[in-house]
Amino acid sequence: KAVPVIAIDGPGGSGKGTIGLMVAKALKFHFLDSGALYRLVALAAKHHGISTDNEEALTVLAGHMDIAFGAGKHGEPRVYLEGEDVSNDIRTDEVSQMASQVAASGSVREALLARQRDFRREPGLVADGRDMGTIVFPEAEVKIFLTASAEKRAERRFKQLQGMGESASIGDLLTSIRSRDERDRNRSVAPLRPADDAIEVDSSELNIEQVLESVLQVVRDKL
Ligand code: C5P
Repeated sequence: KAVPVIAIDGPGGSGKGTIGLMVAKALKFHFLDSGALYRLVALAAKHHGISTDNEEALTVLAGHMDIAFGAGKHGEPRVYLEGEDVSNDIRTDEVSQMASQVAASGSVREALLARQRDFRREPGLVADGRDMGTIVFPEAEVKIFLTASAEKRAERRFKQLQGMGESASIGDLLTSIRSRDERDRNRSVAPLRPADDAIEVDSSELNIEQVLESVLQVVRDKL
């Protein structure tokens, strides 16, 4: 019997990372944050002075960069590049924008496919991203498409940054979210869209507990 996959896709800031982790914990499944892979390629490119339009060099990075995923003291996910903890460095606005530029390359996406599928291990996987249900795990047992209005997502990001002691303007965050959405939705390879068999959950007016409950309800129905 195949190892079950729960695919959670959606735009940046929809809460799929937080929800994905909670679902993985609840089911004791593995967790893949596929966005972190695109962010790692972007950060590695930045470190090596490689431009986001140098597809050939980016593809080599995607296939060969030395990365690792682990957990911190409180069980929070940590991400390593060449042995260094870069969990915060991959979340900056600059790297977010670079990641969505890097992600428009078909050959970069191809190079990351095997790395993503490696996460599918017993007893199961929760995978979050843009194309988990459409391209990477099209046969996933459960597919969720998590959305929220751009305004809500900017507001959440604002609070998150505040919590980390960083300042930002909601207007700038909204502009940044919209430009990333547009790039992710309109690219020719693996554009952000719900799989035909995905169940959509709009989290705009829900709190985390309510989103988790709706997602777990779908999981219980399907698994
Ligand atoms: O999910 P996250 O915001 O961390 O993703 C960063 C960027 O990586 C996205 O804007 C998107 O362009 C890209 N991405 C992707 N496919 C995925 C996950 C992320 O293209 N499965």
